[in-house]
Amino acid sequence: MNLFEVYKLWDIEPVKGLGTTLWDKNGTEYTDLYGGHAVISVGHCHPHYVSALTEQLGKLGFYSNAVQNSLQKTLAGKLGKASGYDDYSLFLCNSGAEANENAMKLASFHTDRAKVLAFGKAFHGRTSGAVAATDNPKIQSPFNATDHVEFVPLNDIEAAEKALNTRKFAAVIIEGIQGVAGIYEPSDDFLQELRRLCDRTGTVLILDEIQSGYGRTGLFFAHQHAGIRADIITTAKGMANGFPVGGVLISPSFKAEYGMLGTTFGGNHLACTAAIAVLEIFESEHLVENAARMGEYFRQSLCPDGIPVHPIKEYRGRGLMIGIEVKDGYEDLRNRLLFEKHFFTGAAGPKVIRLLPSLTISEETASRFISALKALGNE
Ligand SMILES: Cc1ncc(COP(=O)(O)O)c(C=O)c1O
Repeated sequence: MNLFEVYKLWDIEPVKGLGTTLWDKNGTEYTDLYGGHAVISVGHCHPHYVSALTEQLGKLGFYSNAVQNSLQKTLAGKLGKASGYDDYSLFLCNSGAEANENAMKLASFHTDRAKVLAFGKAFHGRTSGAVAATDNPKIQSPFNATDHVEFVPLNDIEAAEKALNTRKFAAVIIEGIQGVAGIYEPSDDFLQELRRLCDRTGTVLILDEIQSGYGRTGLFFAHQHAGIRADIITTAKGMANGFPVGGVLISPSFKAEYGMLGTTFGGNHLACTAAIAVLEIFESEHLVENAARMGEYFRQSLCPDGIPVHPIKEYRGRGLMIGIEVKDGYEDLRNRLLFEKHFFTGAAGPKVIRLLPSLTISEETASRFISALKALGNE
């Protein structure tokens, strides 16, 4: 059987990782500033993560949501404390798209409304509701097309107000920082105003923190920079450092009913163990603080006094969620960083390099990348 080829792959096969370093099958060393798309939050093969998972696997790897699983409660307690959403409840699933799917479903149950408002360039995943709320017709099949979802431009509060005033929307879904679009932030004012609009119109505010969350921006969730609270927050990616886990954090105003949501794999023993180990490492190594500090280091080095260094046209993002838009003529910079300097980075279109490194990244690693980027720019 062949693979169904939906991914454009680099001809590199990593076989080993440690911290922010990867080795391919030929023994070539790479520095990973991409984290497999913002997933590696505590570094590859962190010893605490490896030993926690190994130990749990030797005890019990899986049982379904038909029995007590105290690991889920431990995870919920730790996540509530780390995120400042102690009074919320946690629903566990297996991916980002599934988290958003459940969040929108819950909002619809709660309000008895059908519509969802999303934003231009948004990405929320590829399952049917999540892809319908994703502003990219190329990845929506006719089956996904629906008039339940409307889009307005990011940061356009008048357009959002006009839509929400109809009181037909169950939810607004918004990324803490738009990732796939190329690192675009909702302004603090916009988020605060959106919060007020949702309160006034009885609309559920869903913050998709799947990419921007889990400490990456220097606060646990990116929307916390605006000083607001969401009704539902979705997380995945960095939550379990590569073990597939998604989470929906749900405000106490929602009432759970048996059977309203569900999943076979969600919240299983290995998944919870991985997610708990991640939060333990966050705490013991002060990783949210490190993300803030290292984010500032990248910004000061690549955009001192707000002026991007050559060959950068625009520097965007917060903390360790960084978008580097290169000047015309430098579209090959990402490939050169990979093949000549051995740095893995992400992309958003041909001109935006995305840095989504592990929150454990050191100043030495960041500084090697910054020197490599500047050197290629000056060649
Ligand atoms: C903001 C955001 N939401 C949702 C998703 C979907 O997550 P998953 O690929 O785990 O389904 C992504 C993935 O890139 C994302 O960046």
